[in-house]
Amino acid sequence: MKSYKITLLPGDGIGPEITNVTHKILDLVSRQFGFEIKFKEMPFGGSAIDSDGIPFPDRTLQECKNSDAVLLAAIGDPKYDELPREKRPETGLLNLRSSLDLFANIRPVKIIPSLTKASSLKEDFVKEVDLVVVRELTSGIYFGEPKGRIKTDKGERAFNTMTYTSEEVNRIAEIAFKLAKQRNQKVCSVDKANVLDVSQLWREETILVSNKYKDIKLTHQYVDNAAMQLVRNPSQFDVILTGNLFGDILSDIAAMLTGSIGMLPSASLTTDGPGVFEPVHGSAPDIAGKDIANPIAMLLSAAMMLKIALNETEAATFLENAINEILNNGYRTSDLMSNQTTKQVGCSQMGELLAEKLK
Ligand code: IPM
Ligand code: MN
Repeated sequence: MKSYKITLLPGDGIGPEITNVTHKILDLVSRQFGFEIKFKEMPFGGSAIDSDGIPFPDRTLQECKNSDAVLLAAIGDPKYDELPREKRPETGLLNLRSSLDLFANIRPVKIIPSLTKASSLKEDFVKEVDLVVVRELTSGIYFGEPKGRIKTDKGERAFNTMTYTSEEVNRIAEIAFKLAKQRNQKVCSVDKANVLDVSQLWREETILVSNKYKDIKLTHQYVDNAAMQLVRNPSQFDVILTGNLFGDILSDIAAMLTGSIGMLPSASLTTDGPGVFEPVHGSAPDIAGKDIANPIAMLLSAAMMLKIALNETEAATFLENAINEILNNGYRTSDLMSNQTTKQVGCSQMGELLAEKLK
């Protein structure tokens, strides 16, 4: 029997609840499809600060490196906000991304027909949305040097650097074009080339890459316009290619098209090595421990993992279909409630409903 090693990082807030559900469901799916998943839970984020004193302990990194894929729930809690930057949960996440060289962050946004009413936009605008944000994840202003804070005679000065090399743009652009080839043949590269030098390089390099992909239509949008277009006419997009900071912002906007950020999965990938699969949403400390969180983004992340990392495509499709069916039957976590015809369920109950479908 095929056997895979998965490192589970439940993290903070609602992380452990949605991880529980996802773990159980993956056990069921793997049994159904005749393979085995060996899970190992490791401390990460705030919970690792509590257990190990730092957000990303070396033992967690080693486990991640030795696994076929990493499944991460969410990290962060206001109680760590006062800590110095290097000790905060978010720094652990950035270290995970750079240690595994996860430069390609893939965030698909596809409308589930039964949820069009849950969107904050009118149904007609969102019903055809099927796009993917390809976000560069290990460079740009998140990692650029120099950065820091210094005292000056005009008070303190704080600074970060937005930087890209042509190689960095090249490798993420390649990912976007390859993806567009399997989809609707369109790449929209988002930058701020009217103002930023770094964006001019970004644009030149994406044009160079596009010369290799004659069938793919490349367009460019400035990031302010792209933000507007995402709420004005989101179905114009197929693959959105962008840098680290712009991708962070645009993917939250795009997430809302689906009605809830609780629906959005993501994959962070490298050329050769384990990827990290995680929901786009955060740890939602305000609703943690109440059993009301929506586990679907993590379940869909698990489906992406089955497909991309383990090549268990049938199992992935089976899981996705089961989720759609539950939603079609009207079951919703509180974040997705739109009218009286839907039935509100909690996090673990959503898991149980799904488990029934998978048996
Ligand atoms: C995300 C998150 C992270 C980011 C934070 C938690 C560091 O918002 O994955 O989108 O900014 O990349
Ligand atoms: Mn974000």
